[in-house]
Amino acid sequence: MPNTMSTQDLVHVLLVSYPAQGHVNPLLKLGNLLASTGLLVTFSTTEGAANFMRKASKNIDEPTPVGDGMIRFEFFDDGLGGNNEDPRRADLDFYTAHLELHGREAVTRIVKKHEEQGRPVACLINNPFIPWVSDVAETLNIRNAVLWVQSCASFSAYYHFHNKLAQFPSESDPEIDVQLPSMPLLKHDEVPSFLHPETPFPALAKAILGQFAMLSKTFCVLVETFQELESEIIDYMSKYCLIKPIGPLFKNPKSSNSSVQGDFMKADDCMDFLNSKEPATVVYISFGSIVYINQEQINEIAYGLLNSGVSFLWVLRKPTLLGPAVVLPENFLEKIGDKGKVVNWCAQKEVLEHPSVAYFVTHCGWNSTLETITSGVPVVAFPAWGDQVTNAKYLVDVFEVGVRLGRGKQTEKSGVSRDRIEKCLREAIGPKAEEMKKNALKWKKAAEEAVAEGGSSDRNLKDFVDKIKNVSK
Ligand code: UDX
Repeated sequence: MPNTMSTQDLVHVLLVSYPAQGHVNPLLKLGNLLASTGLLVTFSTTEGAANFMRKASKNIDEPTPVGDGMIRFEFFDDGLGGNNEDPRRADLDFYTAHLELHGREAVTRIVKKHEEQGRPVACLINNPFIPWVSDVAETLNIRNAVLWVQSCASFSAYYHFHNKLAQFPSESDPEIDVQLPSMPLLKHDEVPSFLHPETPFPALAKAILGQFAMLSKTFCVLVETFQELESEIIDYMSKYCLIKPIGPLFKNPKSSNSSVQGDFMKADDCMDFLNSKEPATVVYISFGSIVYINQEQINEIAYGLLNSGVSFLWVLRKPTLLGPAVVLPENFLEKIGDKGKVVNWCAQKEVLEHPSVAYFVTHCGWNSTLETITSGVPVVAFPAWGDQVTNAKYLVDVFEVGVRLGRGKQTEKSGVSRDRIEKCLREAIGPKAEEMKKNALKWKKAAEEAVAEGGSSDRNLKDFVDKIKNVSK
């Protein structure tokens, strides 16, 4: 039935996203869910991100009815136009500062315009790396909420670091273990690497910690996790701020039927390859949308795969501004024959759901972490940096769904050898495999229950929507 309600009658929320795939995607899923509850959702990010999104969804320039509400898009110039090839985007120090300068002005302009047009914004919701949105909200006297797109455990690590509530690695003591409440002991290289004195990404560290400096301006932290997965740490952190686990957003049946997608890249077809394989025989390998693996490590992975004799599907992204070109060893594809397939990008969630996939060699980004455990697929953990090192710890020792291949920094010198890779690939299908699979299936069931009607994430989302609707009455 057509949605005949005027947008002026709907409570209006403005969502502002950092322009990266791993950020746009979950916030857009949240936008769709909020719209389905009868809100008017305006989704805003940069023109550059919009250009990626336009490739995946034809209708992002038109308002789209979703359930009882509506989602619409409004993009802004980050000062670099829509040009995703501008090399200044790879200079994170320059880019985060530039984005803030232009973003503050743009978000303020969007809010004021809607107020003048009789659609005042009741709540501004942003994801991490753009903490200035919380400041804009306070200045304009609008409620602010954050969608935290990493684990609650990582949130706790940043929170404790920012507020100096625990001892972290420092220049004088770079290798100390870190004990945080309601969490397992983290070795120095299991703490989010942005918190290390020698983080290779100080600009990102500054941007992510900036959100914690803004936390007093934020009335609610929505977290892309679910209560049952991280219950102790969620309960503990709830002492400090209003934490609402509402994930996994991509598992929520109401967010999946939207016609607007946040995908930045077109997926290659992998289904014929997977269909041609026996159940639980294929290793899926991917390192997300940002991490780059150097040439030496590509060679080691390739030979590790070849020597282990496993079937595999490997996502090897094309070079972008953030990563140089890498090539497969000479004649690798010929040697592999139909045992393996290498693609630029795939529909990961569908791949993980495919019965042929036995386990996932992952960099442990939080999206990949949630996607794999909620598909019931065990992992070989190969983290690089940021929260990935903490997620790897949880995947292996807390969620008990994986074995560990590397400890992080694999993009630098401390990579892993082909022998280690081969050994790990065998271990993942060895005696431990059954137990890990059983645990992964347990998390899959728990996630499905959390997002189902009346589940923990469903109740938290309804409560959040009620809070927004009640204030704006
Ligand atoms: C970034 C950070 O690197 C990560 O540490 C943080 O937890 C989230 O933000 P990214 O590195 O891209 O994310 O990894 P991840 O969080 O795993 O997200 C990757 C997304 O891309 C997943 O949703 C995955 O399904 C998707 N993907 C990846 C595909 O759809 N196809 C692919 O071929 C590869």
